Amino acid sequence: MTPLRVLGLSGSLRKASLNTALLRAAVDLAPAGMTLEPFDLGALPLFNEDLVASPGAWPEPVAALRTAIASADALLLVSPEYNHSIPAVMKNAIDWASRPPASPLGGKPAAILGASPGGFGTVRMQPHLRQVLTALSMLTLGRPEVLVSNAKAKFDANGALVDEPTREAVRALLVALAEWTARLRPKT
Ligand code: FNR
Repeated sequence: MTPLRVLGLSGSLRKASLNTALLRAAVDLAPAGMTLEPFDLGALPLFNEDLVASPGAWPEPVAALRTAIASADALLLVSPEYNHSIPAVMKNAIDWASRPPASPLGGKPAAILGASPGGFGTVRMQPHLRQVLTALSMLTLGRPEVLVSNAKAKFDANGALVDEPTREAVRALLVALAEWTARLRPKT
């Protein structure tokens, strides 16, 4: 089978981010035949159309993001919940990637993951993100839903995911994303 290339985005920029640690764990847990490559959203400017001198003349970090999305078979969006919704870092990246000409997001398979130190595990963020992706004609995996609650207890001091049920849930999500993407991949 052709290897599956997944691009991973974290909606948190802080070094000790639980969500970036979750993305790093997902890199290790990716099933055979899948490569998961994180892309750092920290260099993106805040969305501003004045930064686009002519259609398609994106600021360099935006061009890099759009190219990385275009060359991926699927996206894995790993994000905190801020004020019951999507953090600006994630929404900013989506907004930059969504603009014409030739948005790389349309028809792209995607999966959502999120972690919080509290008990809700991003349960209010995930449907908001799903709604935004639907607006962009992205094809978001329905299940399993993986909500990593009480996340501080699930990582060790080095940021490694040590909670075995959570590792298994992430593994299952990635296997489901692989099957979902294979089903949607255009026949060649
Ligand atoms: C939060 N946090 C938070 N948590 C939650 O479960 N629901 C929420 O609505 C919010 N709202 C919120 C707003 C803002 C502005 C901040 C900074 C934080 C707490 C959040 O889950 C926690 O800080 C996580 O650790 C953030 O994710 P990272 O950076 O660890 O990946």
